[in-house]
Amino acid sequence: MSPPTVVTLSSSPAPLPPVSTVILGTGSYAPAGLLTNSELSKRVDTSDEWIVTRTGIRERRIAGPEEATSDMAAKAALAALADAKLTPADIDLLIVATITPDLPMPATACIVQAKLGLPTTAACFDLNAACSGFIYGLDTASAMIASGRYRHALVIGAEKLSAIVDWKDRTTCVLFGDGAGAVVVGGSSRPGLGLVGTRLGAIGESVDLLCIPGGGSSAPATPASIAAGDHTIKMKGKEVFKLAVRAMEEAARDILEQHGLHADQIACVIPHQANLRIIEAIAQYLELPLERFFINVDRYGNTSAASIPIALDEARRAGRIKPGDLTLLVAFGAGLTYGSALIRW
Ligand code: COA
Repeated sequence: MSPPTVVTLSSSPAPLPPVSTVILGTGSYAPAGLLTNSELSKRVDTSDEWIVTRTGIRERRIAGPEEATSDMAAKAALAALADAKLTPADIDLLIVATITPDLPMPATACIVQAKLGLPTTAACFDLNAACSGFIYGLDTASAMIASGRYRHALVIGAEKLSAIVDWKDRTTCVLFGDGAGAVVVGGSSRPGLGLVGTRLGAIGESVDLLCIPGGGSSAPATPASIAAGDHTIKMKGKEVFKLAVRAMEEAARDILEQHGLHADQIACVIPHQANLRIIEAIAQYLELPLERFFINVDRYGNTSAASIPIALDEARRAGRIKPGDLTLLVAFGAGLTYGSALIRW
């Protein structure tokens, strides 16, 4: 009997994890419906003057009745894919950061996957960190790409906040708007590029400062809860304002310190666009001129998880971000969550 021959199975070696994770493309989408302050002041007891003075907001976009969060998300994603010169077939990870999913179940990411025609082998999930959701999503995608097990991720922040706003409550309805922004994240073999670092956190004991009290498992919807408007945003504005400034300043300072940087080395800050006064306070604390911040809150209001990716896309298209620049993203939102991210382009 002849001795057995050893058969070697030929297999290609597993690809090495990338050295850094980079943003390959950005995109955004704003629905056509425009709601100006003067239009709003016909619906509730407010005025353009009050809203502009207290918030810096002049108008916001409102999605149409047939337009869901997933529709806006898919449009922003297609723009980001085109910018990255990639196709849906290239994506193996999709994260949708949102507090306004199309449905309570399943994840809006799965609906977006189907709309874009992503492969069924792509991992798809939603992430709820409210207005900090995009930074949380970027960090998550970056870690998954850095593991070497995913190649290209779409991170989308998309919101239809007009669906969860109490349009009779002047203390909240003037603040919010709809829209979507997206980025494509991939690996790079060049060190020091892309996502340099992140700093995430949350202050869970302050959940009740900004929340939707009804409709979840602790208080399922009833005719009475719906009549009381418990499924709409409730906010203690003054307390949120103070915490927002403190947490965003700390998140910005911490990440700069961690990386041995001074605020002056940041070419462009992309803050969460909630209120111009919050942005002005952070600029003052960081001793940076306001011109260093990208601001579009006047045109969109607060679009929660969509706010930073929309601003990032607009900042890039406006030439505010150049190769070699350091960009600082910083956000704060319900949870209360907060986060910052440093990106080298
Ligand atoms: N139009 C006119 N008057 C309004 C108003 C509106 N839309 N909303 C509130 N007011 C009134 C209040 O009733 C109050 O009247 P009173 O003095 O007679 O009681 C007065 O304006 C001042 O209200 P106040 O809540 O003290 O105003 P403020 O300076 O704190 O500004 C916010 C209110 C909401 C703009 C501000 O607190 C804020 O931006 N908070 C943070 C919100 C935020 O960013 N949330 C999202 C975080 S991600």
